[in-house]
Amino acid sequence: MSGTCVIGLQWGDEAKGKLVDLLAPRFDWVVRYQGGANAGHTVVAGDETYKLHHIPSGILHSDVQNVITPGVVINPTTMLQEIDGLQARGIDVFENLKVSERAHLVMPWHMIEDATINATAVRGESIGTTNRGIGPCYRDKVGRTHAIRMIDLIEGSRDERISTVATQKQALLKNLGASQEELDSIAPEKMVALAASWAERLAPMIADTTDMVLDAAEANQKMLFEGAQGALLDIDHGTYPFVTSSNSSGVGVCAGAGVPPKWINQVLGVCKAYSTRVGGGPFPSELEDETGEKIRKLGNEFGTTTGRPRRCGWFDAVAVRYTARLSGVTRLALMMMDVLAHFDELKVCVAYELDGKEIHRVPAHAEQLRRCKPIYETIQGWNTPVDDARSVDDFPPLAMAYVKRIEELVGIPVGVLSVGPDRAQTIFTEESKAMNL
Ligand code: IMP
Repeated sequence: MSGTCVIGLQWGDEAKGKLVDLLAPRFDWVVRYQGGANAGHTVVAGDETYKLHHIPSGILHSDVQNVITPGVVINPTTMLQEIDGLQARGIDVFENLKVSERAHLVMPWHMIEDATINATAVRGESIGTTNRGIGPCYRDKVGRTHAIRMIDLIEGSRDERISTVATQKQALLKNLGASQEELDSIAPEKMVALAASWAERLAPMIADTTDMVLDAAEANQKMLFEGAQGALLDIDHGTYPFVTSSNSSGVGVCAGAGVPPKWINQVLGVCKAYSTRVGGGPFPSELEDETGEKIRKLGNEFGTTTGRPRRCGWFDAVAVRYTARLSGVTRLALMMMDVLAHFDELKVCVAYELDGKEIHRVPAHAEQLRRCKPIYETIQGWNTPVDDARSVDDFPPLAMAYVKRIEELVGIPVGVLSVGPDRAQTIFTEESKAMNL
């Protein structure tokens, strides 16, 4: 089989959803393997815009099998809303989506826990989570005692388990300072009824996706693995503690999906032609000035999941080189080139200055990264719209010079260029043909 991964190389929101939707028809399977409803993948198909949080971005293609595997954390209420929204628009989600019985459930108490703890500053700054209960759910997964998995909805003594955990969570959250209203909202009897309603609707979709994926791989089928968030938010390798709770870099694919590394042979590393970040944490090339504001406006840089304005800055080649190496990237996809088309001058961060020394790596401590001053290379802007470009030849030479410089600095060839949200605004370069998609 051939397995291709689509991995975000920055702090998320790199427009991975658009690429997965575009590439999906060339694959038999689209596999979503980590994160949860903190993700917001936007797919534009003609006049329709779809905002997906749990559902794989291959769902618009009826002959592609979509799966959500054990590494994903699922909030059944929001997933069912997402499914109903898609069904109402004529997309038969029940027909071609399977959900792992091993996936963990984000319960209402996880969201209360997230909101309660999120307000706390970590090293002087709040993590600024999406408040979707992601961290608390993964914490319970690792802790095991309070975890609820998809399989628990349909197997074993569900009501007893939910009731016991809900009672314990009420006590724990009371100590954390949750309000009486919040505590009442997770009363055991309410949670038992909620779980029963989820089970009724989700049962036909719950499956052993690990077995399905392994069978498909052995039958030589083609799989597209859809990463969520970006590699700089990876729990082990990102800008800790200002990260998400899963392995969002390329190293997370195998564990989350349940596939051995031998079946991954292509990794498309997706990055914007500049940088953005939502939530807290260090961001060396951040622009807290009118240039940053201009990028935010031109790129409509507001969160898909939370609506928060995204922090914007220049392309950080130190960070992307790191995450591209870590993720085993074979080709880059450079997105939002249309946004950079309105500047006389562009900058790219090529190194950091940390305590008077030039460094070319991402330091481990948030305080060190916060002290890093970006060392910029100035590149002449092309200042001509590229929204209508449909091949590399349509780009002004200065735009291609920018692309070439990014390739050199990151050390990976660019295979895809994107100039707008529409499927047609995507250019596959000669290099991408080598990907044999
Ligand atoms: P959590 O994943 O909700 O716990 O949030 C942890 C950090 O990751 C916060 O800074 C979020 O803003 C960020 N984050 C989580 N998911 C996404 C995403 O899909 N795009 C961008 N940032 C995200």
